[in-house]
Amino acid sequence: MTHATLSRVDQQKQRAAEYAVSLIESGMKVGLGTGSTARFAVAALGARVKNEGLKVKAVPTSEATRVQAESEGIQVVSFDTVDTLDLCFDGADEADPGLNLTKGGGGALLREKVVAFSSARFYCVVDEGKLVDKLFAFPLPVEVIPFAAKVVERELRKLGAEPLLRLREGKPLVTDNGLWILDCRFPPIDDPPMLAKALSSIPGIAEHGLFCGMVHEMIVGTDTGTRVIGRP
Ligand code: A5P
Repeated sequence: MTHATLSRVDQQKQRAAEYAVSLIESGMKVGLGTGSTARFAVAALGARVKNEGLKVKAVPTSEATRVQAESEGIQVVSFDTVDTLDLCFDGADEADPGLNLTKGGGGALLREKVVAFSSARFYCVVDEGKLVDKLFAFPLPVEVIPFAAKVVERELRKLGAEPLLRLREGKPLVTDNGLWILDCRFPPIDDPPMLAKALSSIPGIAEHGLFCGMVHEMIVGTDTGTRVIGRP
């Protein structure tokens, strides 16, 4: 889609996405994020594969992204055939000035975190609206093992959260990993790394959507171009 036919926010997303994709070189192993911003990046990568003959091996973070990548002619490989990734790009639901992120609005947070963890460089691609003073407004997604959902809910409440099971058509939404998601409304998060640690210590949580200390660079799409924010 051309810039002109997109909304202002989508134009920002597309600019950030295209910048991230411009950093990819032939021969790289690349992690592909999930969500509307990552979707622009996958389309831009597909265009480079077609137009420039760029050769990459790609690991998608969701089934949705895998389907898109394959339809774009990008070579998708299974994660267990690659050791580490050179680079990955992915969106975020919110980002604070310390480059802590809330992710998982699209339900793919577990694979997104494993892929980001395995990448030498993680480029987070966002529109300006994602930048906040404190992570808060977007409920924090927590992926849970269904067997443990009640216990996890109780423990999350002790941490100050109001958890809500994510539903689709009246039934629990099942992730690509066969798990459920609790969307947790917390008070403004003053210390994301501390909360991340507390969440990781609860048995039954497969992963949570707080990404701390993982971003290499934040690429923010603006009305006129992009702004790159490095690690603080
Ligand atoms: C997917 O699970 C999420 O982590 C997305 O990366 C996040 O929700 C951002 O999505 P958008 O790019 O659609 O805003």
